[in-house]
Amino acid sequence: MTSPYLAPVQGWYAENARDLPWRHPGASAWSVLVSEIMLQQTPVSRVLPAHAAWLARWPSPASLAAATPADAVRQWDRLGYPRRAVRLHASAQLIVSRHGGQVPACVQQLRALPGIGSYTAAAVASFAYGQRHAVLDTNVRRVLARLITGESQPRPNQSVAELGLAESLLPADGRTAARWSVGVMELGALVCTAARPRCADCPLAHLCAWRERGCPPAPVSRAAPGYAGTDRQCRGRLLAVLRDAGGPVRPVALEAAWGDSGQRARSLAALIADGLVTRCADGSLALPGDEPS
Ligand code: ADE
Repeated sequence: MTSPYLAPVQGWYAENARDLPWRHPGASAWSVLVSEIMLQQTPVSRVLPAHAAWLARWPSPASLAAATPADAVRQWDRLGYPRRAVRLHASAQLIVSRHGGQVPACVQQLRALPGIGSYTAAAVASFAYGQRHAVLDTNVRRVLARLITGESQPRPNQSVAELGLAESLLPADGRTAARWSVGVMELGALVCTAARPRCADCPLAHLCAWRERGCPPAPVSRAAPGYAGTDRQCRGRLLAVLRDAGGPVRPVALEAAWGDSGQRARSLAALIADGLVTRCADGSLALPGDEPS
């Protein structure tokens, strides 16, 4: 049975969706995969130029696989969470060695690639290959929480029941299901937002359980930790020194980047453990692939 939600979302999406390159009909599976990795922790506005530059430089998995991880980290530049660059590079190499250079369409094969979890695997299989999978990112989870369960925000952890509910709402045909998922995602990004939902502009307002209940607010949650002074900021500064140097540096070169020596040492150890930085045989530090030969 077709759900009553499908047609309003389809109509709204056709009128209101942003024109994003990874949604174009001719977008390659590689373009979709790169976009989903970048969008995991970075807003669309910052992903747009980075995605265009990445695809221009490496239009296929094979072209990225032939570069070094250091090239990938430098190209990633300041998008944040740079482990994603190293993992994307490793994924490109596996796509070449295991899958003949074609991004796999099968969710199990996608999930076996570094940095690809259940969300990203479902997103690529659905958006790139028109397969029928529930694609549950935070925006989709919030829309469904409000629309169906009448709760202001989704639970912190995704449950089996939530996945089952999302699957029960999927249209039978894979391509229609993909369009439904991206439509709900866009509705969550543009209208049914976390802080300021614009219910007057929502095509599902007349069907929404949360509105039916008078839009009860979510219980207050603890504020997200800040960025200034964190190990994450410290790691970003240290990595920027290596990126900008273009080759190996002596450890003392990192001292000016961060004053607190304990935090600096801890953050450097984390970068090395994550495979973002290599300690070379001569004691210098380098991005992986930039070691002195
Ligand atoms: N379109 C397809 N996937 C997306 C995502 N993760 N975020 C925003 N728009 C998208």
